[in-house]
Amino acid sequence: MKYPRLGVNIDHVATIRQQRGEFYPEVFRAAQLSLDAGAEQITIHLREDRRHIQDHDVPEVHQVCKKNKKLLNLEMGMTDEMLQIATLEKPDWICLVPEKRQERTTEGGLDVGPSQIERVRHFCDALKKNLPQTKISLFVEGTPEVMKQCLTVNCDAVEIHTGQYAIDFLHQKDLSHHLDMYKKSWEVFHKSGRGFHAGHGLTLESVLPLLEQGLFEEYNIGHWIISEAVFVGLGEVVKQLKTLMEKHPMKGIV
Ligand code: PXP
Repeated sequence: MKYPRLGVNIDHVATIRQQRGEFYPEVFRAAQLSLDAGAEQITIHLREDRRHIQDHDVPEVHQVCKKNKKLLNLEMGMTDEMLQIATLEKPDWICLVPEKRQERTTEGGLDVGPSQIERVRHFCDALKKNLPQTKISLFVEGTPEVMKQCLTVNCDAVEIHTGQYAIDFLHQKDLSHHLDMYKKSWEVFHKSGRGFHAGHGLTLESVLPLLEQGLFEEYNIGHWIISEAVFVGLGEVVKQLKTLMEKHPMKGIV
């Protein structure tokens, strides 16, 4: 039996670190813990504005992945700078994403419409020339039209943007049209033998209907995992601090 892969997106650990500009929490440590727990892949997004993942994180996290014989998936925009960085780093996967400086997170899929497809094609060809071993996925909206456009590009997979599905799940809205679109997209795309991945906004609960549908072979999940990890770990960390404090009675008070 084949099970889907989990890619843990650890950008959100870097977000906490960058708020203080300190070296902790270390992103590579989050990578190691995720792999120890069974993740098959670590996903990081080196944004043009470096708001979370920094340049030094990329080789550090890659080192952890290599040591554990697991995959590094580098999300990046289609810029010359990112092409250079990726060419040096040689990640296992590159996921091409759209990037707008003002957005809070990646808000939509890559534009693969008629006016932009040539640019995407050209960028993928450049990547394939520099990095023949690296696989490429395109972070796109899940519609059959988009899938048809992606089939004209030298890519190895699509990652379907599940952001709106995940929001609709949280607000208990009808999900059938999303699931229907994913099925129709899969029907168009999977015949090519290329990968069909999903990511954005997913939680333990919202991923379930997708797992039941059984079409996606990879899920990249970050924000919910890191959010939930706070609650799983908070009590333990407070206990550690209290244990230390209780060994140290105050000296100035009789
Ligand atoms: N996949 C892609 C392409 C993304 O840009 C993101 C967000 O960085 C994710 C997956 C993970 O999304 P989330 O952090 O909401 O789980």
